[in-house]
Amino acid sequence: MGIYRNYIYPSIIEALLSRPSVMAQRKDLLRHARGEILEIGFGTGLNLSCYPEGVKRITIVESNQGMNQKAAKRVAQSNIQVDCRLLNAESLPFEDGSFDTVVSAFTFCSIKEVDKALREIYRVLKPDGQLLFLEHGLSPHKGECFFQNVLNPVYRIFSDGCHLNRDVEDMIKRNGFNITWMEQFYDRQMIKLADYLSKGMALKNVNKWGIGQRGIT
Ligand SMILES: C[S@@+](CC[C@H](N)C(=O)[O-])C[C@H]1O[C@@H](n2cnc3c(N)ncnc32)[C@H](O)[C@@H]1O
Repeated sequence: MGIYRNYIYPSIIEALLSRPSVMAQRKDLLRHARGEILEIGFGTGLNLSCYPEGVKRITIVESNQGMNQKAAKRVAQSNIQVDCRLLNAESLPFEDGSFDTVVSAFTFCSIKEVDKALREIYRVLKPDGQLLFLEHGLSPHKGECFFQNVLNPVYRIFSDGCHLNRDVEDMIKRNGFNITWMEQFYDRQMIKLADYLSKGMALKNVNKWGIGQRGIT
């Protein structure tokens, strides 16, 4: 599994997620990136070329060393300085309120304890910080949804734990975020059953007294 996870799987991800339609969606999302930026599940670094010109530095977390190795060339050639951390998003080594923007692309599907990671993202975002997401997830159509649920256990074996059937909107909302805009659509250049995408922005759910759903922020 080590060779597959560290060498083969990163190449598969690179091929599948660098298709033109997906790259266009990344670019469209990341034009909103601002300030101190944290990217979760950096993978092979496909987002790097999609950040706006003003972005000079990002921090990234990634749990698979093989992904970081494959990303290294892209990082070296980029004008953006990348602070790479090899660790799990479920436990982030950053102070509360450190980031203006957290980015996740095709990563919430793979994180083992995704609610824990989303709570960490909530914690490390500033009170007016934003979560930018581009994720595949549970289809609203019964037929596709049925196959996503049935094939999920097998799919996970070959995809380093990726789930076909996570409900993107629900997982973001149940962890204290307000989704301020979201587009949901099929991208037929993605592989079947992982082709229902959600792209959007979520803000911390903070009321006028500065009290978030998860306590004082
Ligand atoms: C499907 S890939 C997407 C990579 C990249 N975000 C992209 O859009 O091309 C999911 C990535 O999340 C990483 N990942 C999975 N679980 C993680 C975790 N708990 N913490 C940090 N990264 C994780 C995987 O190693 C992989 O690089």
